[in-house]
Amino acid sequence: MPDTSPGPAPIAFVDIPGQIRRLRDRIDERVRRVFDHGQFILGPEVRELEEALAAYVGGGHVVTTGSGHDAILIALMAEGIGPGDAVFVPAFTFVSTAEAVLAIGAAPIFVDVDERTFTMDAADLERRIAAVRRAGTWRPRAVMPVDIFGLPADYAALGAIAETEGLFLLSDAAQSFGGMIGNRRVGRLAPATMTSFFPAKPLGAAGDGGALFTDDAERAATYRRLRVHGQDASGECLSVGMTGRLDTLQAAVLLVKLEAFPDDLQRRDAAARRYDERLAQLVQVPHRPAGHVPAWALYTILSERRDRIRAALAAANIPSRSYYEQALHLHAAFRATSEGPGSLPVTERLGRINLSLPMHSELDVATVDRICDIVATAAG
Ligand SMILES: Cc1ncc(COP(=O)(O)O)c(C=O)c1O
Repeated sequence: MPDTSPGPAPIAFVDIPGQIRRLRDRIDERVRRVFDHGQFILGPEVRELEEALAAYVGGGHVVTTGSGHDAILIALMAEGIGPGDAVFVPAFTFVSTAEAVLAIGAAPIFVDVDERTFTMDAADLERRIAAVRRAGTWRPRAVMPVDIFGLPADYAALGAIAETEGLFLLSDAAQSFGGMIGNRRVGRLAPATMTSFFPAKPLGAAGDGGALFTDDAERAATYRRLRVHGQDASGECLSVGMTGRLDTLQAAVLLVKLEAFPDDLQRRDAAARRYDERLAQLVQVPHRPAGHVPAWALYTILSERRDRIRAALAAANIPSRSYYEQALHLHAAFRATSEGPGSLPVTERLGRINLSLPMHSELDVATVDRICDIVATAAG
């Protein structure tokens, strides 16, 4: 007789529908209220969310934006960065980080990452700044570390270099909202921080969204102006801006998600700890420097047997992904400032051996164990 028993439940890489099911009633109620008042652009939920986000990170000013990418553009524009300027970025990141730099006419200068944290390497940053100063083609203006996979970068070391060199420090925290170093949350670790509410991020909207965080009231006012075409309260356009606002509907969804966020982060952390327990002897599991608390956007292992593990997971119908196999300095768009293959050895190696496993707030121990059984067999 054919086997008609249902197979094991499918495993999602990021289970957005599962999380929505838990919160659905509250989301429906919040969204209904927006349709009732009809203020779809900069309605009351937008300011309410900004205040709730500021309270969550423990103070400062928050300006929400249409996306994480908009947030980077606005932050760079606010500093007057443009043609002739250099912005130091890692190449082990999503394209947006460097693409935003190019979009405002500045030059992205690629810096290698640390082999354990995958975030910007402070010693390499110093070398690259010195090289740009020596060459004299671009004016160093800013450093934009990325909290890749949710782990905050080494802001103590990177911030000290930025200060010594007179460079602006902008944190690309698209993946790390909810993370911490010591008792300071992401959003308070640099003079300016951007994050993304792309649906798959730890705090995800039901569409695009982002935010900027700063302790500087004047800078926040500039962000508010730039997200509405550079217009001030009287309507005068003081400088070029953009349409960069968060939709009221997204703010309504995010207000519900933010309430659930501390619990969601704990669920992600519990899944990460189970992965650690099961896999630490077999592959390189994510490193957390002392005091760093990741938001677990992704749980990413390193193994020379990565391709074998990936194939075994695919054969078991378990999704996994390798990020940044083509690092940014190898993309056509960034050729002008790239030193080509071999110029960022750690970044390039990570692209060959990293593998992100399913990670989300709905993962239970039994599912993590099912995934780990396959990884263990393929890695052993
Ligand atoms: C590191 C990084 N920077 C920037 C962005 C851009 O964010 P968004 O997709 O919200 O524009 C993303 C994510 O998508 C990202 O992962």
